[in-house]
Amino acid sequence: MKGVILAGGLGSRMRPLTKITNKHLLPVYDKPMVYYPLETLVEAGITDILIVTGGNNAGDFLRLLGNGKEFGLQHLNYTYQEGEGGIAEALSLAEFFSDKEPICVILGDNILENSIKEYIHEFKRQGGGARILLKEVPDPQRFGVPVIAGERIIRIEEKPTQPQSNYAVIGVYMYDPTVFDITRTLKPSARGELEITDVNNHYIEQGTMRYNIIHGWWTDAGTFESLLRATNLVAQQHGIC
Ligand code: G1P
Repeated sequence: MKGVILAGGLGSRMRPLTKITNKHLLPVYDKPMVYYPLETLVEAGITDILIVTGGNNAGDFLRLLGNGKEFGLQHLNYTYQEGEGGIAEALSLAEFFSDKEPICVILGDNILENSIKEYIHEFKRQGGGARILLKEVPDPQRFGVPVIAGERIIRIEEKPTQPQSNYAVIGVYMYDPTVFDITRTLKPSARGELEITDVNNHYIEQGTMRYNIIHGWWTDAGTFESLLRATNLVAQQHGIC
C-alpha cells in the first residue's frame, strides 16, 4: 500500500495568507500543516509516499521535508500539479507512482486525532474497491456528504445545500489501482474541477465502496475558521488552553 498526500491548489479561500506561500505550509499550532497528514500515513505503516504539490513555493516542500528522514522515512517522492484542476486531477498525477498498487490518499489540509491503521487493515482485507471515512459534523454542507440508506451509502453529494445526513466524507480515501481508469473519465464540475466525490460515486455505483465512521476528532484546515479550529484542537491535545 502506497500513500499519496495532495498538497497542491492555490489556496484561494485563504488569501492573503496564501498570496506568497502554499496553504499546506501554514502553521497549525507548532508544525506546518503538511506534517500532520504525513505523520498520519507514517504512523499507519505507509513508507512509500508521494507528495503532489503545486501553486506557490512548491520547492519549499523539498526544503522542509527533504527525504523524510525526520519522519523515519528513507525517501520521499514529489510531483507538481499545475493550476487548480481539483483533487481528482491531483490524484491522477499519482498513477505512475502507484505502479498498480493500492493507495491511501490523504488531503494535505486534513488533520485527525487518531490513527487510521485499523481502516487500512480493513481495506486490505476487503480485496479491491475503495474505502472512505466518515465523521459526524455540525456543518455538513461544507463537505462531501453521504446519502445513507440503512447501512449502505447510496451516493455522495458534494457540498449540498440540503445535506441528507450529518456526516462529512473526510479527506482520507483508499483505492485499488482501477482509480486511475476512473479519473480518466471525469468531467469538470460547476467549480471547474475534477471532483473526488465523482470518483467515489463511481465505486458506489460498482458496489465496491466500503466505509468506516471514525472515532476522535477530525478537521480540515482550508478556511480561516477551520485553520483556527485545527490549531486549537492540536493545542488542546498538547494540554495547552
Ligand atoms: C474536499 C472534498 C470534500 C471533502 C473535503 C474534506 O473539499 O471535495 O468532498 O469532504 O475535501 O476535507 P474542499 O476542501 O476541496 O472544499
